[in-house]
Amino acid sequence: MASSRNKRKITNCAIYPGSFDPFTFGHVNIVQRALKIFDTIIIAVAINTSKRGTFTVRERVCMLNEVFRAEPNVVVDSFSGLLVDYVRTKGAQAILRGIRTVTDFDYEFQMALANKSMDPSVEQVFMMTEGKYLYYSSSIIKEIVSLGGSARDMVPDVVEKRLRKKLYRASVQEPSRR
Ligand code: PNS
Repeated sequence: MASSRNKRKITNCAIYPGSFDPFTFGHVNIVQRALKIFDTIIIAVAINTSKRGTFTVRERVCMLNEVFRAEPNVVVDSFSGLLVDYVRTKGAQAILRGIRTVTDFDYEFQMALANKSMDPSVEQVFMMTEGKYLYYSSSIIKEIVSLGGSARDMVPDVVEKRLRKKLYRASVQEPSRR
């Protein structure tokens, strides 16, 4: 006979927070790999009132819902305030972050220590990026698109279309005539 312990539903959830302005294939790769460790990933777009993004938080959430439409174990949400408070309200087991470079590590280490000092019970999991995503930074991608380059290999389709619509039109101007 199965004991109550065996029948217990195991839920193992990580919060994946970030600006995601925009979400890249590097981010998608982190989520896909993290799903092998966690039952549920909540992608949490940070609402940062002091930083004006290319996309509104609502636009980012909308694109993310489209990207993960077929993935029932991924939930898309947004949050404001302290990340540790958000993690607590969701009852999540960990914060998930991706790391590309030593510079990323420095920044992540500082944030992780700050989070831990505010909530010693919080666990933070870091996944190294896969090599091909190393240079996929949101700001480089935005520059490429704004100058007419293609980011098709760097971001999901829905993101690429919206980026082009938003950035390309505004930035390419006729060279001035002397
Ligand atoms: O994608 P980003 O911009 O590197 O993400 C940074 C983010 C959103 C994870 C971080 O700024 C954050 O946790 N913001 C919430 C506010 C907070 O908890 N700050 C204290 C910890 S640094």
